[in-house]
Order: sequence, then C-alpha cells, then structure tokens
Amino acid sequence: MKAGIIGLKMGRQHLSGYLQNNIEVAGICDIDQTLLKNVQHQFNIHVATADYQELLAEKDIDIISVASPDYFHREHCCSALLAGKHVLCEKPLALNLEDCIEIIKAVRQSGKKFMIGQVCRFAPGFVLTKEIINSGEIGELFFVESEYAHDYSVAEGVGKWRKDKRRKPFIGGGCHAVDLLRWITGDPVEVFAYSNHKCLVDWPVDDATIAIYRFENDVMGKVFCSIGCIRPYTMRSVFYGTKGTIISDNTSDHILLCSTRYFKRKANYNFAKIPVNIAHHNVAAEIRYFVDCILSDRRIETDEIEGTKTVASCLGAVISSEQHRPVNIRDEMFSRFIHL
Ligand SMILES: NC(=O)c1ccc[n+]([C@@H]2O[C@H](COP(=O)([O-])OP(=O)(O)OC[C@H]3O[C@@H](n4cnc5c(N)ncnc54)[C@H](O)[C@@H]3O)[C@@H](O)[C@H]2O)c1
Repeated sequence: MKAGIIGLKMGRQHLSGYLQNNIEVAGICDIDQTLLKNVQHQFNIHVATADYQELLAEKDIDIISVASPDYFHREHCCSALLAGKHVLCEKPLALNLEDCIEIIKAVRQSGKKFMIGQVCRFAPGFVLTKEIINSGEIGELFFVESEYAHDYSVAEGVGKWRKDKRRKPFIGGGCHAVDLLRWITGDPVEVFAYSNHKCLVDWPVDDATIAIYRFENDVMGKVFCSIGCIRPYTMRSVFYGTKGTIISDNTSDHILLCSTRYFKRKANYNFAKIPVNIAHHNVAAEIRYFVDCILSDRRIETDEIEGTKTVASCLGAVISSEQHRPVNIRDEMFSRFIHL
C-alpha cells in the first residue's frame, strides 16, 4: 500500500510513522510551498502539491492521512473517502456534530476504512493502565480524572487557526482527555461544566474548563482542560477503584500503582512504580494498527462513531458551561448520530 498526507506539521509525524511501518509515502499536500518542497526533497516523494484534489487523483495512493487544521477535516476526509481512499484523520474528528455526521455518511457510502487518530490510546503508559484496570487489579472504578494542560500561547497554529472562536479548546485539545476516559471507563451519560477566561485574554475563547461527568455504571469523572496554564504539557490522569488507584501521566517514565493486593495492611499503603516508555505521541503504533486493520479487513476500534462520540461528549461540556445546565449526553448528543 501507499500513503498520502494532507498537512505537513503533525503530518510529518505521520510520514515517520508510515516509514517506520515500511509503507511508502507516495504523495504529500500542503499550502506552504517551501515546506512542501523541503519535505519532498528530503524524503524523495513522488507527488507534492498544494491542491489536495491532485493528491486524491493519484490512483496508486491507497491511504490518506488528514493532518490539516480541524476546520478542514470534514472536507478532506469526505473527499478522500469518496475518492476511494482509506482515511486516518487527526483528532478531533471535527469541531461540531454536523461535520462528524457528514464524515460518518461518507464512510458508509465509500465502504472504506476510517480511523480517528486519538493517539493517547497508543501511549504505552495509558495502554498499561487500561490493561491493569481490565485485569481487576484495582477493583471496580468509582472515580476517574484526566486533564489536558497545554500552553497554547506558543502554539497558535499556522495562520493562527487555533485562535478562532469556532475552535473550542475543550473540543480541540480536551478531546484527548475525554477520549481517554471514554476508552477506559465507557460512555458518559451526563456532564456539567464551568469555563473561564483569565490566561489567554486576547484569544476569542474560554481558555480553561472543568467538566464533571457521570459515566455508565455510576462512575464519576472529571476533566480539566487549560490552554493558558503556565506549566509543561501534561495529561496527568488518575483512576480510583475499590481495590486500588493508578496515577498515569503521559509525560512520566513510570505509572504509579497502589492496590490492596500489594499493600495488605492499610498502614503500609504506598505506590509501586512501574516503568513505561514515555512515547506520548506514538503515531507509529497508531499507523501500524490502522494498516493491520486494512490488510486483515478487521473492524477499527477507533472508527468514525468513536470519534463522533468523543466530540459529542466534549460538546456536551461546552454547551453546559455556556448554558449553565447539565447536559444529557445520551439524549441530546448521541441520539443525533448513533442510528446512522
Ligand atoms: N494527535 C495529537 O496530539 C496532535 C498534535 C498536534 C496537532 N494535532 C492535529 O493535527 C492537525 C494539524 O495540526 P498542526 O499542529 O499540524 O497544525 P499546524 O498549524 O502546525 O500545521 C498545519 C499544516 O497544514 C497546512 N495546511 C493548512 N491548510 C491547508 C489546506 N487547506 N491544505 C493543505 N495543507 C494545509 C499548513 O500549511 C501547515 O503546514 C489538527 O487537526 C490538530 O488538532 C494532533
């Protein structure tokens, strides 16, 4: 198989990911001509174009990575699918449910494979955390929390696309934390959220949000998202179960596990350190999974519905903070696409 990539900043990581999996990148697209030519020469790529339709017209390209700014995901994904390509799209799937629904319809119409790149599902520490939870080591979950703390003052994006009122940080960035909790805990049922705007005062959006979720099985959850905090990037996440607790931070080289099996006497409670590879943007593993699913014609776990559920769960929090009311995610959000 051969791949093509739209957008060459995050898309550069996709390029490395394809090469690490011995997939040829036969075409690239970016509106920045200098970047385009540099990447073409460095990797000896056959087609380099600023017009994504030219890339999609290449018959021998089977897979397209969509790594353009969020607003273009709908147009780029739908066009690529309808041109007969399998598509790997960067998160978030889109910034609103209407765009997500159009992508779902295009997947159905094309019959091609589609994957949303929720890369946290491939971070070794989070993968191990999920395995330990599934093994029963910490009992039944009762509270889960995650955060997306990332100072965007130096990450406005090319042409400042992130600094746009359509791009709610809780959807654009917070989707990582919400998707992680959904992956480990299940779907949220209801959300209540507060937002404020004290750090990036020249941005047109609230820069901090805290959302409280109620998940299936009566698990409680909390997601904090800040794009103006003064601290290094982190997604520190904590999972509390009836028999133990796990602290997992994707910027740490270990996870912390405390469980009653290890610490039989309450007075001795402590955390065991389990080493992990940091690799918080493990795009190579993401691409390996995508390619395996295509080659073996397997269902992709992180498909268009999963991507939409995460956007919907984030959107519920945005609506809640704007309208100062709880939002029922199942009735108000999932009901709009789950039947498709
Ligand atoms: N998985 C992650 O953790 C992660 C990290 C960063 C970005 N992302 C996602 O990747 C996507 C791109 O983000 P980024 O950080 O690379 O942004 P960026 O602004 O750094 O780069 C975007 C690139 O796309 C190009 N571009 C813009 N419009 C285009 C168009 N119409 N056609 C072709 N090329 C176009 C720009 O010239 C630029 O090179 C976004 O959806 C973002 O949310 C994901």
